[in-house]
Formats: sequence, structure tokens, C-alpha cells
Amino acid sequence: MEKRDRWDSRSAFVLAAIGSAIGLGNVWRFPYIAYENGGGAFLIPYFIALFTAGIPIMMLEFSLGQRLQGSPPRAFKKLNKKWEWFGWWAIFIAAGIGVYYCAIMAWAWWYLFAGFSQNLWNSATDWSEVFFVKCLNLATTENAGQNFLTTFSVEWNLLLGLFLTWVAIYFVIYKGVRNVGKIVMITVPLPWLILIILFFRGITLEGAQTGIAYFLNPNWSLLGDPQVWLAAYGQIFYSLSIGFGVMIAYASFMPKRSDITNNAFIISLANCGTSFLAGFAVFSTLGYMAMTLNKPVQDVLAAGPGLAFVTYPQAISLLPAGAAVIGALFFIMLLTLGIDSAFSLVEAFVSGIVDKWRMKKEVAAFWFCLIGFLLGILFVTRSGLYWLDVVDHWINSFGIALIGIIECVMIGWVFNIRGFQKYINKVSEIAAGEWWIIVIKYVTPVVLGIIFVLSFLEEFKTPYGESDGYTAFIRFAGGWFVIVLVVLLGIVFQAIKGRDVIEESLDKILDDDQEVE
Ligand code: PHE
Repeated sequence: MEKRDRWDSRSAFVLAAIGSAIGLGNVWRFPYIAYENGGGAFLIPYFIALFTAGIPIMMLEFSLGQRLQGSPPRAFKKLNKKWEWFGWWAIFIAAGIGVYYCAIMAWAWWYLFAGFSQNLWNSATDWSEVFFVKCLNLATTENAGQNFLTTFSVEWNLLLGLFLTWVAIYFVIYKGVRNVGKIVMITVPLPWLILIILFFRGITLEGAQTGIAYFLNPNWSLLGDPQVWLAAYGQIFYSLSIGFGVMIAYASFMPKRSDITNNAFIISLANCGTSFLAGFAVFSTLGYMAMTLNKPVQDVLAAGPGLAFVTYPQAISLLPAGAAVIGALFFIMLLTLGIDSAFSLVEAFVSGIVDKWRMKKEVAAFWFCLIGFLLGILFVTRSGLYWLDVVDHWINSFGIALIGIIECVMIGWVFNIRGFQKYINKVSEIAAGEWWIIVIKYVTPVVLGIIFVLSFLEEFKTPYGESDGYTAFIRFAGGWFVIVLVVLLGIVFQAIKGRDVIEESLDKILDDDQEVE
């Protein structure tokens, strides 16, 4: 038997999983998704999604990784040889996210440096110009449709940031998870500390309450909109890093008899608490800005991803003092928040390669980082933001919902969920009761199924980004094509012969369970 890579301790694993969960999604994605989808009212579907899908599925993924001691493809292969592709599918999606995630980190690098070198942190700066013109040098959508060469010209400064990010990822993961466990001792607490500073800075500003009120002020009518529910479930999956195989891979480096339920609760609640805190930090500062500019809050908000790169920096540069310091802290926070999510995405894929081909981790990681970097160049071109937006939308609305459904149906209906329940209860303090079975077997697949169908229909009624000038080509190439491609790649990777011989049948695994006290 080969020796599996191991975490140093339970806390190393928990911190690493928290690091994976807490990322750009909490600061860059959560606040704008929340206010686009009903503000305060969004918290209802969000918490429903957390308890009916987030935590139960995290428990499921932990039990899969830990009990079957394998990366996602290997874990599913152990359940049934024919299902290996599904594990590949999940981690190909993780790889896809990893590729564009690092591009966002490249923007953050740019802001960190340009903030000083171009002396941006003053109230005269127009941040919309900074983001779209100076940082991204974004082509117009019409231009993107017509002028191929302008559109695909690479932004060298961003490329440098992208390169730095990939190099950092490589050096963190190539030695194995023991090293990851050490790095997260810094990359998890540091951004928390900064966030707490930003939180207190934010809420003590004049006008903070109006911003917070805007964030929490509910728009109940949106609760009837399936898109809002989709956004809530999508955000939970994305934010908790579930449905991508990441948590399966991380749990596979834990010894078989480690607590599952407790870890899942700690990690999920830490993650959602952080999102909430970030919402307060961001919106209180925006309230201050609205007051300074003498405008209502909704007029100072930029929709979408511009929040972290346009609106928030704008608000910071209006601060009475210390704008440069707070601004730098914010981007250091984004980078340290992002890096542990980024390497978890890479780790998930690399663990699949290592398991199947018995490749050395440093070799697999090297090739993965190189290819990831090269593919990522698309996102640092002059049309990069459009590609990023489309890929992010498709992966998160369709890819994840599908994986969630299949995962639940497969374990709930085909592979003896009672066995998993028994296993979880043997190793955990908090029991996975009947509620867990009901959630996995019925609630999650039904909810995700309805949401999936409705948003699928919606996509045909109002194609994504059409009003912003996105062409059918970009929707096809960055959307549908990517979704289908990852499935096909999964099937191909299953078909390629590996060196991972799995003699153990499921019965053997069940026998092993008996040893677990
Ligand atoms: N959870 C991370 C975030 O919120 C993103 C991520 C998604 C990481 C999927 C790993 C897997 O930013």
C-alpha cells in the first residue's frame, strides 16, 4: 500500500479548509450578489441554502474523501469503476475556476503596486477609469466583437501578476499538504485581522448606518424569483468550495477516524460569518462615501465585480486620513484571502493526477501550474473581463448545480447512504441524523433540480449579458462549450489507463469501517 500524504494535525486541515472556503468569493462576490438579489432578503435563501445544502454536502464530501482515502476520481472509482469520470468532472471545474481566479488576483497585485507607484489613493482619482482603462485596458464589447487583435492583446502588467500568483501556488503545494498546513497558519488569520480592522474603520465612519441599512434592507419581492435562489445556492457552493472535489481531496489526507460533522460546522460557519463581516465592512464604507458625495447609496454602487475594484477603492480614497494604508491593506487582504483558495483548487486536480498515475506531486504540480498560467492569459487580455464574467456565470449556475444534483442522487440513491451515515456517526461528535438523509436524498436534489431547469429556461429567454453586448459566440465558447468540455475531459481521463489499481471492493471498505471505533 502506498503511503498517503497527511495533514500534520486536525487544526491544519480545518484551517486549510477554511482557507479554501474563505476567499475572493466572500469579499468580491458575496456583497454584490447579495445586493443584486434582494439585499437583506437574500439572507433568507442564503441561510436556507447553507443548512439544506452547504453543511450537509460538506459532511458528505468529507466522508467521501476520508472514508475512501482518495482524490475525487479515486474516491468515485472506489464506489464504482464506471463513476471515475464524475470525480474528474468536478476537479476539471475546479481547475477552470482556478484559472480565472488567479486572473482576479492579478488585478489585486496591480492595485497594490499601482496604488503607490501612480499615487492613486487620493480623492481626485476616478476609479472606474483606473479599473477599466488603466488596469484592464478593457476593449468595448463592440470592439471585442470586431477587432480580434485589439481584443486579444495581452496586458503585460497583469500577466506579471498572474505569473507571480502561479509561482506562489506552485511553491506552496509542491511539497505536499504538510507544507500547505503551515502556510495557512498565516494566510487564514492575516486577512481576518485586516478584515476586522476594515470593519471597525467602516462602522465608525459617518454615514455608515445608511450603507449597512442599504445592504440589509430587504426587497421581499425578489424572493419569488428563481434566479435569486439559484444565486443563493450557487454562492453557498462556491463559497464553501463544495461540488468541486476540493473538500473531498482535502479530507482524503485525513486519517480515517477523524471527526466530520464538527469540522463541517466549524468551517461553514466561519466562512459565512466572514462573508457577513465583509458585507458590513464594505457597505459601511460605501455609506460614508454616499454621504461625502451627497448622493443616495444606490447611486454610488457599481454593479457586479466592479464593487471590489471600483466602488470600494473609491470610498477608501475619500477617507479623511490614511487612505493609502487602508487601500493597501484591502488588497493585501484580497491576495491572502485568495491564495489559499487558489491552491486548494490546484491541489484538488493535482491530487487526482497523483493518485491515478502515481506521479510525483512536484511534477504534476509543475505541469498543472504551467498550463494553468498559459490558459489564464486569456483573462488578462483586453477582453479578459468578459470571458471571466461568462465563464464564472456558467460554471456557477450550471456546472455546480448539476454536480450537486448528481452527487446527492448518487450517494443518496445508488451507493448506500446509510453506510456513510453510520461511518459519519462513528467518527463524529455530532450525529448525522435522519435530517441528513432527507436533505441529501430529497431536499437538495429537488431544489437544485427545479432551480437548474428554471434557470436553463431563463437563459434561453434572456441570454446572459445580451443587454451588455455579449455576443452569442462568447456565450457559447465561454459558457456551454466549457461545461460540455469538462464532462468530455472527465470521460477521456477515465478511459486513459492509470497505475492506480483498486482491488478493494466496497465490502472491503465496509469491513475496514469496523476497525474505526
Ligand atoms: N471558496 C472560494 C471563495 O469563496 C472559491 C473556491 C471555489 C475555492 C471552489 C475552491 C473551490 O472565494
